[in-house]
Amino acid sequence: MSIEEKYKELTLGSRTLYGHAKHLFPGGICHNIRAFHPHPVFPRHSEGPRFTDVDGRDIIDLWMGHYSLIFGHAFGAVKRAVNNVLDSGWHWGMPHELELRLADEIMLAAPVIKKLRFCCTGTEATMYAVRLARAFTGKGWVLKVAGGWHGASTDLSFAVRPPYEEPEGPGLLEPDMQGVAHLTFNNIGESKRVINLHQDHIAAIIVEPMLGSGGFIPATKEYLEFLRKACDDIGAVLIFDEIITGFRFRYGILADEYEVSPDLVTLGKIVGGGFPIGVYGGREDIMELANPFQPESPGRPVLVGGGTFSANPATMAAGLATMDSLRKQQSSLYNLLATRGDAMRKGIEERFKAIGLPAACTGMGSLFMTHILKGDDDLITSPGDIAEKTHSRVADRELKISLLNHGVYTMHGGGAISATHGEKEVSTMLDAYEAAAQDLKNELQI
Ligand SMILES: Cc1ncc(COP(=O)(O)O)c(C=O)c1O
Repeated sequence: MSIEEKYKELTLGSRTLYGHAKHLFPGGICHNIRAFHPHPVFPRHSEGPRFTDVDGRDIIDLWMGHYSLIFGHAFGAVKRAVNNVLDSGWHWGMPHELELRLADEIMLAAPVIKKLRFCCTGTEATMYAVRLARAFTGKGWVLKVAGGWHGASTDLSFAVRPPYEEPEGPGLLEPDMQGVAHLTFNNIGESKRVINLHQDHIAAIIVEPMLGSGGFIPATKEYLEFLRKACDDIGAVLIFDEIITGFRFRYGILADEYEVSPDLVTLGKIVGGGFPIGVYGGREDIMELANPFQPESPGRPVLVGGGTFSANPATMAAGLATMDSLRKQQSSLYNLLATRGDAMRKGIEERFKAIGLPAACTGMGSLFMTHILKGDDDLITSPGDIAEKTHSRVADRELKISLLNHGVYTMHGGGAISATHGEKEVSTMLDAYEAAAQDLKNELQI
């Protein structure tokens, strides 16, 4: 039986639901990344590292709510905190104590953030960061890295997937008309060329210090230092998008690990404890442009932070409970997560190799992605390397459904280890990867 036939047989309930979903949502989903052929799997219940799908199958989850659940599903501290909020009423649309406490917690851990605002998604956070940068500099152009993902705002929906020179899709303008251009990740020479080309007009450069959906590829320290200096030289704002990386590898932001100070930082995912969140903050002089009561400039403030549900109490409580646990456990937790991540990266590469299907795992700490290699070259330092040297579509589909057949839910061939993924889960997952690799070897001509 083929990988796909087996998957269909195991997921009849999901298949039926997806049949209905297709009548409701374009593509049957509310976020493109959740769709895959022949149909996504529908979960019904989750706890710790696992979920049960509508067909009653027990599946180890590596996606962890778009990487937001560092303590696993249904984390008790978050559940209790949110229940407390529900007892007091869950939305006031007024300032409240919990938002102050979460902001304090974030700022203490990431001192580069002198002022911040909460919103409901990472997309909003990066969109507002760009707007603030344009207001601060009085310039228009925005540069991002090819393969970087900062959410789907109009300004930043470009150069996400190749071909990077073309609009990301219909409804978006040509990059030139939009005032945007892309840099090649970790390539100082090429990036310098593009920055020089637009240098008088650049408001901001936005970059993830470790590319997230673009391949879990860390920036080199030299690259981030180069971007810092380039922004200083041309008077542009450097934005670090730490929506995936913030509080993922340490109790704080990755910028501090690199010892490179961005002007603005965006956060999301983990700091909301699995509830909807976005955070944008940084230099006081930039953030203060959004102050509607600026005494010294009576003009209009930068318009940021619409959002009926911004800083809503449930999110603030979930974020606080998560941050509190992370702060208390940081000395052991992050090392443990990294040990498990290392075990997955090493184990997957070894087992794929033994089967004769060479693979390379990127990532660091608790994050990893599996790339099935086309040849011997396993050096992956940019999204271009992934496009050129790996079978990325296979990782996103055949490997994904084969792993689901063996009880593991992945994204881009990997995912995020949570505090609840123990040695037992690592060992079960590695066996599943081995079985999936064997299936691929048997079925695909790669
Ligand atoms: C680095 C990065 N920035 C921004 C976003 C957008 O965040 P959201 O999906 O909450 O809008 C994402 C989402 O995955 C992300 O990974």
